[in-house]
Amino acid sequence: MKVGGIHRRTIWPGEDGRTVEVIDQTKLPHAFVTVRLRTLAEVVHAIRAMLIRGAPLIGATAAYGLAIALRDDPSDSSLAAAYDLLHATRPTAINLRWALDDVRAKVAPLPPKERFAAAWARAAEIADEDVAINRSIGTHGLELIRKAAARKPGKTVNVLTHCNAGWLATVDWGTATAPIYLAHEAGIPVHVWVDETRPRNQGAGLTAWELNNHGVPHTVIVDNTGGHLMQHGKVDLCFVGTDRTTAEGDVCNKIGTYLKALAAKDNGVPFYVCLPSPTIDWTIRDGVRDVPIEERDGAEVSKITGRAEDGSIATVQVTPEGSPVVNYGFDVTPARLVTGLVTERGVAPASADGLLSLFPERRKRV
Ligand code: MRU
Repeated sequence: MKVGGIHRRTIWPGEDGRTVEVIDQTKLPHAFVTVRLRTLAEVVHAIRAMLIRGAPLIGATAAYGLAIALRDDPSDSSLAAAYDLLHATRPTAINLRWALDDVRAKVAPLPPKERFAAAWARAAEIADEDVAINRSIGTHGLELIRKAAARKPGKTVNVLTHCNAGWLATVDWGTATAPIYLAHEAGIPVHVWVDETRPRNQGAGLTAWELNNHGVPHTVIVDNTGGHLMQHGKVDLCFVGTDRTTAEGDVCNKIGTYLKALAAKDNGVPFYVCLPSPTIDWTIRDGVRDVPIEERDGAEVSKITGRAEDGSIATVQVTPEGSPVVNYGFDVTPARLVTGLVTERGVAPASADGLLSLFPERRKRV
C-alpha cells in the first residue's frame, strides 16, 4: 500500500542482496522509520521486540532470517540453531513455524554452498505469495461487503476490526483490511470501527495509521465499545485476522477478539475471520486447549507510550506501583462464534468440513 504516495511493502530485500529492510512498527504512528536487518540476531530482535509483527509478516521475516543465518554459516548445525532461535521468538503465530519448515525443507537437501541462494529465493517467494494470497482474500471478502451494502442501499457499511490485521501485519494488503481497501477502491461507502487494542494499541497506532494514509473513513474506539455499537445497529460486519486457526476452525487472535465475537453473536452481526492458508494449523483441533498463548511483559499493561504535548515520545505509568499485572497476548474464539473463514480460496464455514472443502488436499492428513 502507499505511504506518502509511494508504494511500500513491509519487508523488502536490501540492494546488496544480503540483508533485508523492514518498517519499524514500534515507531508508528508518530514516525515512519525503516530498519536494515543485517544479522540473524537483528532479525530475532526485530520479531521479538515487535519491530515487525502480525502472523504473515512474522513468517516472511523469519524466512529471511533463516537465509541470513545461512549466508554466514551454511552448515547443518547453523541451520538447526537458526531454526530454533527464530522459532522461539513468538509462540502463537503459526506462520512462523510454517515459513521456517518450508525454507528448511527446501535447503536442507542441498550442498551447504547452495543453501543461502536457495533460502533467499524462497523467502522472496514467500513474501510474493503472501501479497497474492491477501489480494485474493480481499476479492472474496469484497463480496461480503458488497452484499452488506446491497442490504442498505445508499448507506455506509460499517466494519469493526480488532488489532492490526492490515497491510502492516502482512507483506501487503493485510488480511482483514484487504476487502476494505478493495471496497473503498470500488466506491462502496465503507467506514471502519477501529478497536484500539490495548495493551500495545495496534489498532489505534497501526490500523488507524494505515486507513488514514489510504483515505478510508474510520473511527478509533476503546476496546469495550464494540458491543454497545452492535446493540445499536452500528456494525454491519466484523472482520478480524488470526494468528492460528485450528483444523476445526477455532480462531486464535489478539486478546479481546473472543469478546467481540460473543457480542457479535448476541446481536446477529456477521463475524468473519480473514486468513491466509499458512495460518491454518492442521495438526490441532481444539484451539482453547492446544494453541500456546503468548504472555508478554507486564510493562505493556502498566505503562503506555505516546506523543506528549511538547512533541516528544513519552512512556507513562498507568497502574499503581506494585499492582500485579498479567498480559496474555491472544485468545481463542471457538468456531461456533465465527460466521465464516475468508481465505484465498473463498469463504467457508468455520468447521473441519468447511476448511476441507476449500483445501481438499488436506483431507488425508487431518
Ligand atoms: O501481537 P501481534 O501484533 O503480532 O498480533 C497481531 C494480530 O493479532 C493480528 O490480528 C494477526 O496476526 C492477524 S494479522 C493478518
